[in-house]
Amino acid sequence: MHHVWPSLVGKDRYTCVGLMSGTSMDGVDAALVSMNASLERPRVELLRFSSAKYPESLRESLADLAAGANVTAEEVAMLATSVAVAFAGAFFDVCRDAKADARAVDFVGSHGQTVAHVPPGSGSPVAATLQIGPPAMIAALTGVTTVGDFRSGDVAIGGQGAPLAPYCDYMLRKSDTANRVILNIGGISNLTYLPAGASRDDVIAFDAGPGNMVVDTLYRALFPRQGDYDEGGARASVGAAQRNVVERMMRHPYFAAAPAKSAGHREFGPPFAWALKTAAESEDASHEDILATAVALTVESIVDAVRRFLPEGGVDEVFVTGGGARNRAMLAGLEGALAPMPVRAIDELGIPAEAKEAVDFAFLAREALLGRPNVLRGVTGASRALVLGTIARGSE
Ligand SMILES: Nc1ncnc2c1ncn2[C@@H]1O[C@H](COP(=O)(O)OP(=O)(O)O)[C@@H](O)[C@H]1O
Ligand SMILES: [Mg+2]
Repeated sequence: MHHVWPSLVGKDRYTCVGLMSGTSMDGVDAALVSMNASLERPRVELLRFSSAKYPESLRESLADLAAGANVTAEEVAMLATSVAVAFAGAFFDVCRDAKADARAVDFVGSHGQTVAHVPPGSGSPVAATLQIGPPAMIAALTGVTTVGDFRSGDVAIGGQGAPLAPYCDYMLRKSDTANRVILNIGGISNLTYLPAGASRDDVIAFDAGPGNMVVDTLYRALFPRQGDYDEGGARASVGAAQRNVVERMMRHPYFAAAPAKSAGHREFGPPFAWALKTAAESEDASHEDILATAVALTVESIVDAVRRFLPEGGVDEVFVTGGGARNRAMLAGLEGALAPMPVRAIDELGIPAEAKEAVDFAFLAREALLGRPNVLRGVTGASRALVLGTIARGSE
């Protein structure tokens, strides 16, 4: 057991916190989780979930940074501190909500905030990924050992550094009897295919394309001062999608590229959303129609990915996670296009859709602290499976 992080030695259960903010930048999600120490039969139990919005000015600066704004290193450093402060705040929020003693938390797993993602195959001369909100700052602010910066190691050895959730899906959510797809619709969508009784080499997973990213960008532009997103998909539900615009946007080379692949703002940030809007407007689309078209594009990119890259007839059930699971237009579109495959929110597996990824980062941290390779290299394309994550020591 000498690979085990000293403060975990001899414990058979851990209380931990997963912290996550995805490309949507809609808020910092915090999951207080209890998990066992079993290597073969890991189990996680969500005790409490909370989500805190970034202060609006921070959100705007982060969105600008991710969209390629011209900012100085000093500004990036200050944003990194602000993200760490927001993440530490989310940690204390979830502890307070649960009436849990923050000092009794064994560890934190933090995704950080992605502000750049240029993996192999994205056309950049050097592969890179940058999640800001240093684990050392979070450990210092919370006093709790923090694992973060999960993606860098994988990118250094030829991997995409993404998606990372498939390892957790494989360890925690595979079925012995059903061929299962776990579909996360965050800013970007990613899917994990877990054939019944899968071994790790059987897992197929990749980013399918934009999740809510295009829908959110257009919603904020078309319906200013009416919230950050289309609540429940209400506006998109009353619009009519323009199939020819969807087909045109589907010509983006990302969709046909074979996995391993991962996406971000670089592929599907504002310029892509404006291109969709311009194409739609040239045909007299209403604002609702434009939103419906963006939803239809997300649906089509997912359905196209299932047809292209998963075995034909090989999927028995689809579980949807992430904020997209709360958009009824998105779910209805998927149900219609994937029928007769059942499409359900992941809540039916006992985990709220909005908490799933935060739980996953707590689990990735467990694996890092136990010294276990916590990535499927067949998924990321890395030359070997590393123990991903940088460990910053708490006040033990
Ligand atoms: N109640 C809701 N109705 C419609 N869309 C929602 C709702 N809740 C969340 N979403 C969508 O999900 C997005 C956030 O999803 P999330 O899984 O947190 O993504 P990320 O990992 O990129 O942060 C929001 O920006 C929004 O588009
Ligand atoms: Mg989010």
